[in-house]
Amino acid sequence: MKTARTVAEMRALRGQLAGPVGFVPTMGFLHQGHLSLVDRARAENASVVVSIFVNPTQFGPREDYQTYPRDLQRDMAMLESSTDVLFLPDAPEMYPPGFNTWVEVAGITDRLEGASRPGHFRGVATVVAKLFNIVQPHRAYFGQKDAQQLAVIKKVVSDLNMPLEVIGLPTLREPDGLAMSSRNTYLNPEQRRAATVLYRALEMARQSRRSGERDASRLRAGMLALVQQEPQARVDYVSIADPNTLEELEEIDRPALASMAVWIGTTRLIDNTVLE
Ligand code: PAJ
Repeated sequence: MKTARTVAEMRALRGQLAGPVGFVPTMGFLHQGHLSLVDRARAENASVVVSIFVNPTQFGPREDYQTYPRDLQRDMAMLESSTDVLFLPDAPEMYPPGFNTWVEVAGITDRLEGASRPGHFRGVATVVAKLFNIVQPHRAYFGQKDAQQLAVIKKVVSDLNMPLEVIGLPTLREPDGLAMSSRNTYLNPEQRRAATVLYRALEMARQSRRSGERDASRLRAGMLALVQQEPQARVDYVSIADPNTLEELEEIDRPALASMAVWIGTTRLIDNTVLE
């Protein structure tokens, strides 16, 4: 595995890679969910590039940019056997003085995560567009865990005619159902137990949909009630939405994205599932 810390180094190493090139952008503190993306990139491409960059522009002023977990030594050991080039830019390399161009997706970013985290998707879309331009992959891999992020990135690639394929992959979970996330490290043991409430609420929605429930409001109310039984949990949103437009549904007459954001103490967790 080679490492590049500047855009110039990354471009030079990219020039030596055999194609097709698969790319996995991350913010590090890697877990099996990240590695499942890298494994798929490895299987489908001649070369694999991974980036680790905690992107300041996608964090709000009261969010966890400063405290976001970081462990580069461990991350590098986890990637060593499967990655050809690891791109590790710092913030001034990605955002030099005078940086002033932003990628903004309208519409789908108004809802859910976009409504709760103003400016978040502008930061995500901008950094991912920059990474795509620097790495020039044939394929890029993202987790369904961040379903709205995946939809936003697909829209950027389609609207701006970027010459690559965006591939979404399933959420990896802990044995008790909690979706793997770098932020799970913030949870103390009691909060860690409480955090399974997201998965339990999504499972309840799946069960209920399977038994024929078509009323999205009743489903949302059921999920909300289940989460509210957990004293450690505070709901940000619970949603049953169209998976493409992310507009809330009234009747579930097509596949629907059930998603939620829940605070466990000072940690904000998100999770989702598609109700077929
Ligand atoms: P990060 O949270 O590090 O996630 C990197 C990628 O891993 C994303 O595509 C995310 O959806 C995926 N991922 C996270 N948890 C997962 C899980 N449990 N199972 C499967 N995949 C999972 O998402 C970001 O970083 C950033 O916003 C980024 C796209 C890198 C832009 O800064």
